[in-house]
Amino acid sequence: MAKAMAFSSFFLSLVSLYLIIIANGVHSFGEKKTFKVQKMQAKQLLGPMGCLLPESRRQNGAVVLEMKDRGHCSEKKLSWNRRFQKQLVFDDLRVRSMQSQIRKMVSGHTEDDVTETQVPLTSGIVFETLNYVVTIGFGSQNMTVIVDTGSDLTWVQCKPCKSCYNQQGPLFNPSSSSSYQSVLCDSSICQSLQLAIGNSGPCGNNNITACNYEVSYGDGSFSYGELALDYLTFGGVSVRNFVFGCGRNNKGLFGGTSGLMGLGRSKLSMISQTDATFGGVFSYCLPTVEAGASGSLVMGNEFSVFKNVTPIAYTRMVPNPQLPTFYILNLTGINVGDVPLKTPSFGNGGVIIDSGTVITRLAPSVYKALKAEFLKQFSGFPSVPGFSILDTCFNLTGYQEVNIPTIRIYFEDNVELNVDVNGIFYMVKEDASQVCLALASLSSEYETGIIGNYQQRNQRVVYDTKQSKVGFAGESCGFI
Ligand SMILES: *[C@@H]1O[C@H](CO)[C@@H](O)[C@H](O)[C@H]1NC(C)=O
Ligand SMILES: *[C@@H]1O[C@H](CO)[C@@H](O)[C@H](O)[C@H]1NC(C)=O
Ligand SMILES: *[C@@H]1O[C@H](CO)[C@@H](O)[C@H](O)[C@H]1NC(C)=O
Ligand SMILES: *[C@@H]1O[C@H](CO)[C@@H](O)[C@H](O)[C@H]1NC(C)=O
Repeated sequence: MAKAMAFSSFFLSLVSLYLIIIANGVHSFGEKKTFKVQKMQAKQLLGPMGCLLPESRRQNGAVVLEMKDRGHCSEKKLSWNRRFQKQLVFDDLRVRSMQSQIRKMVSGHTEDDVTETQVPLTSGIVFETLNYVVTIGFGSQNMTVIVDTGSDLTWVQCKPCKSCYNQQGPLFNPSSSSSYQSVLCDSSICQSLQLAIGNSGPCGNNNITACNYEVSYGDGSFSYGELALDYLTFGGVSVRNFVFGCGRNNKGLFGGTSGLMGLGRSKLSMISQTDATFGGVFSYCLPTVEAGASGSLVMGNEFSVFKNVTPIAYTRMVPNPQLPTFYILNLTGINVGDVPLKTPSFGNGGVIIDSGTVITRLAPSVYKALKAEFLKQFSGFPSVPGFSILDTCFNLTGYQEVNIPTIRIYFEDNVELNVDVNGIFYMVKEDASQVCLALASLSSEYETGIIGNYQQRNQRVVYDTKQSKVGFAGESCGFI
C-alpha cells in the first residue's frame, strides 16, 4: 500500500479537484485552501542509496530529521486504488487489534477474549499503517526506520539474522561497530527493561548471556533478539549508550525499512533515553503521502526550528497508568464549520493520539453527530456507498473544486486542532468517483478514541514528555 512512491517514473494521474474551505457563517470567512490533485511525480531515487534519507541537521539545541512516506523504501509499486483501499482495510485491523490489547491492559486479563478471534492473525497489520520513516545512525551505520509513537523499544534487523524480512540496504552489523556492546543479563538495564516490555525472563540464572528481548505487537508481528548499546547518531549529534534491540528474528510488513523507532511514553522509549540531550521533547510534521513530500521529525524543544504558521497551543496529557505507552488527551469538542457538535460523550475519557493509526476513530455517538452535521453543510453532491471503515462518500467525478466544511477538534484548555484540507477527505478512487469523509466510528462507546495520522497532517505536533503536554500548530510540512 504505501509502496507506490518508490519509482521515480511513477506518475499519479488524477482529475483536478480543488477544495476550498469556507467557514459556515455570513460574517466570517475561513481559510481558503487548495487541494491539488494533479499529476504528481515521486522524485525519490532508489539505487545504491537504498532508502536512506541523508537529510538531517543540527539546529541550535535540536536535531531535525527529514521524514518521508515509507513507500520511499519499498520496491513494489501499487496502483492508487489498491494502495489507498488496502490502507483502510489494514487500518481497521490495526485498530481492532489495538482495542483488544487495550481491553487486556485495562482489565489485567492475559487470556484472549472472545472479540479477539475477530482479528485475523495477519502478520504486520500494525506496521502496514505506520506511514513515516526517518534515517538514524546506530554506531556509524545509517538505518531507515519506521516512526511509531505507539510503542517503546527501538530495534533494527541485525546480522547474523536467523529470520529477517526483506529490507533495502544492508542489515546492521554489530561486528563492524567498535562501540557496540551487548547488554548482559546481570545488568540493571536488562532487569528494568525486561520488566518494561514484559519478558518472561529468558535469561534464567545465567548472568553472562545476552539480554534477550521479545516484542510482539498484538497482530502476529514481532521482533526477537538481544538488547544492545551503541551510539545513536543523527544530525551531527551522538547519544552514548543508547539501548536498542538487535533483532535476529523479525516478522511483519515493514516495507523495506530496517526496523522501528519507538517514541512511546515509557522509560525504554527513544525520547526517554535521550532526554538529557533533548529535554524529553520531540515533534513532527506529517506530510501528505500522496505527493511524496517530506516532513520533519524534530528532537528537542527548539521553537526557531518549527515552521508553524499559528502559535503552538498545549493541552495536558491525561495520565493513565494502565496504558503507560500511549499519549492520551482529553477530547472536549468538535466543530463542523462553525457548529459545535452536541453530544454528552466529550470530556469523559481520553483519546489516544497516535502516529500509526491512519483514520481518526470517534465514539459512535460523536461520529453520528459529526456525520449528520457534515452532511447538512456538504449537500447537493451525489452519494455513493462507503468503503471499509468510511461510510460517508461522494462521487466528485467532474468537479474541479468543492467547498467543504472545516473540522476543528478541541482538547482540554480549548486547544484546537484545525484539520488540514488534506485530512478531511479520503480519495478511495483515483478518478474521484468515491471520495469519503476521512473519519470513522468505533464499534462501541466503550472503546478508546484515537486521533489518527490523517488528521494530523500539516500540523506541528509537539510532545513534551517532561511537562506532560502535547501542542498543536498549523504548519505546511517540508524539510527545509
Ligand atoms: C550517515 O549519514 C550522515 C548524514 O546524516 C553522513 O554524514 C554519514 O557519512 C553517513 N554515514 C555512513 C556510514 O554512510
Ligand atoms: C547473578 O547476579 C546476581 C545479581 O548480580 C547474583 O545475586 C547472582 O548470584 C548471580 N548468579 C550467578 C549464577 O552468578
Ligand atoms: C476533560 O476536560 C473537561 C473540561 O475541562 C473536564 O470537565 C473533564 O473532567 C476532563 N476529563 C478528564 C478525563 O480529565
Ligand atoms: C460518478 O459521476 C460520473 C459523472 O457524473 C458518472 O459518469 C459516473 O458513472 C459516476 N460513478 C459512480 C460510481 O457513481
